[in-house]
Amino acid sequence: MIAFIPSLLHLLLAVSVPVLASPLPSELGPLQITGISLKGLLCDIPFVNHLLCPTKGTSVPSVATALGAALGVVDSSGALRFSVKYGSAARWQPSSMATTWALPNGSKNTSALPLVCPQANLSGSQMSEDCLSMILYVPENLKAGAAVPTMVWIHGGSFIEGGASNPGLDGSKLASATGAIVAVVQYRLGVLGFLGPTGATNLGLKDIVTALQFLAKVVPSFGGSASKITVAGQSSGANMIRALLAVPSASNLFQSAIIQSDPMDYGFTSPTVQSKMQTYFNSDVKCAATNAACFKRLSVDAILNAQSDLYDNAFSDIDPSCTQAEPIRVVHDGTFITSTMDSTTPFPKVTKPLLISTVLNEAGPSIYGMFDSSVPEAELDYVVNATFGTARGQKIMASSMYVTPGTNAATSNTDARTQLETLGTDYIWKCSSWTLARSYVASGGSAYVGMYVVGASYPGNDAIPYCTQAGVICHQDDIEIVFGTVPSPSAAQASLTTEMQARYKAFLNTGNPNPAGSSLAQWTPATTTASNALTLGGQGLAPVGACTADFWGQAVQYDYQVYDI
Ligand SMILES: *[C@@H]1O[C@H](CO)[C@@H](O)[C@H](O)[C@H]1NC(C)=O
Ligand SMILES: *[C@@H]1O[C@H](CO)[C@@H](O)[C@H](O)[C@H]1NC(C)=O
Ligand SMILES: *[C@@H]1O[C@H](CO)[C@@H](O)[C@H](O)[C@H]1NC(C)=O
Ligand SMILES: *[C@@H]1O[C@H](CO)[C@@H](O)[C@H](O)[C@H]1NC(C)=O
Repeated sequence: MIAFIPSLLHLLLAVSVPVLASPLPSELGPLQITGISLKGLLCDIPFVNHLLCPTKGTSVPSVATALGAALGVVDSSGALRFSVKYGSAARWQPSSMATTWALPNGSKNTSALPLVCPQANLSGSQMSEDCLSMILYVPENLKAGAAVPTMVWIHGGSFIEGGASNPGLDGSKLASATGAIVAVVQYRLGVLGFLGPTGATNLGLKDIVTALQFLAKVVPSFGGSASKITVAGQSSGANMIRALLAVPSASNLFQSAIIQSDPMDYGFTSPTVQSKMQTYFNSDVKCAATNAACFKRLSVDAILNAQSDLYDNAFSDIDPSCTQAEPIRVVHDGTFITSTMDSTTPFPKVTKPLLISTVLNEAGPSIYGMFDSSVPEAELDYVVNATFGTARGQKIMASSMYVTPGTNAATSNTDARTQLETLGTDYIWKCSSWTLARSYVASGGSAYVGMYVVGASYPGNDAIPYCTQAGVICHQDDIEIVFGTVPSPSAAQASLTTEMQARYKAFLNTGNPNPAGSSLAQWTPATTTASNALTLGGQGLAPVGACTADFWGQAVQYDYQVYDI
């Protein structure tokens, strides 16, 4: 017996993401603008129909926007980079859009990257509550009126960590390859973004809406089209995109969506559970809900410490729907977010094209991070019971999907981590994503489903030996493929980056990831009965496994169904 068998719910996404670990690739010299008059910066070279005047090394790229002059730097790969503050918000209040163009955090340095929003395990100088910033990557030499699309990236990090300057998120190569503007946005995290002590919810998601309003206002000045905005994101960022699809007030702010590895099984949080978490937090920081001054006085450290308590105890002390992995999530409040966007309530009518992907071994970091040595197959039943309860657990064990090869053998050395990894991947990501795709199509939208079978170990995953094995693609290993930021890519990685950037370019422009006239495999959209998940980096469709319409979501319910979120 292993002494302690944590529940699988403990699984996910607690993979720590190094923030600001690596600086973005070289710019052509940090440009010090202090002392230079703005007029001098603007287009001192002939301006022949080019929106972005200066060429490399000559000056600060500068663009006149509706909100003032945008100053940036020439980034590494044929793109210009602009850090900008898109909004501001008082603590636990909704954000409002910036009315003048300003560098993040009051900076005068156009090369500087935004400070991240407050999160655990970083020093105070790396973060700021004044964090509603984004980094825009703009292809060079865009012509005025080019009306190119914009892809907005919402980073992951379990709603409690991450930022626009995370490793691999330099959007310059993606911008160059797709000819689109790439905007990597920040939003408030953790309790500061999702758990206002007096009942405010979804502030972090509302920050994204503010960012989209900002983009609609400014992208035309860069050669973008305000009506060609696609939201894309990974993990909790993807979860926020699914929520955005259910926000009527955001509906005209984007035309299509890309959901990469949404832990969809969890569902959103219910207002009831949100309210319990709020009570817990308020009691921990010893502020009465009515005492605004008390909340205002709290240091960021005190808030993060209480957040950490909440995170550790919500599942056991508050409600199992909190999950042990992601208690702080968006809230299905019924007013801002008007649908659960899952199979528990009628699906709203949808029209926006959707691209939904997962990776082969989503649960790899969690399972192999949690169990660093072999799990005897006799323990599988135990872990499954502990995770799902015996009713669901025994249906899972009775199916043919997760049996160990040595089941029923008196002695077997089979390592059940293989089955646990498949199980975790299936219910939290893969099957629940496929369920969404089929519902989406049934409600009028188009959905293209994919599964990465080639990836690149994201920083952090490389510390888990399983994730570095050939052919294993762990959660987050799709990110650098999409951004084209894999360090020293193999031929297979480089080829998949080329393919995905071509597919994204097509999707951003047309809502269909099949580029016209290309030799790439045809990506067939999902139907109401078949997900048609294309292997990304492989050939043909991904094996269906347990992701049939009658198993996950029906014979065995997802957590969002069990907890009636
Ligand atoms: C912070 O570090 C601690 C100790 O290493 C770790 O347990 C925790 O998960 C980290 N928190 C985040 C948000 O990364
Ligand atoms: C960010 O801005 C705040 C408030 O102006 C300031 O106290 C802090 O030093 C700034 N941080 C950095 C790293 O510039
Ligand atoms: C501007 O920011 C960049 C990137 O953080 C840094 O390398 C550079 O030293 C800064 N320049 C000045 C003048 O502070
Ligand atoms: C799991 O639950 C089932 C049904 O209650 C039970 O028969 C089985 O013995 C349990 N397994 C373990 C290891 O507790």
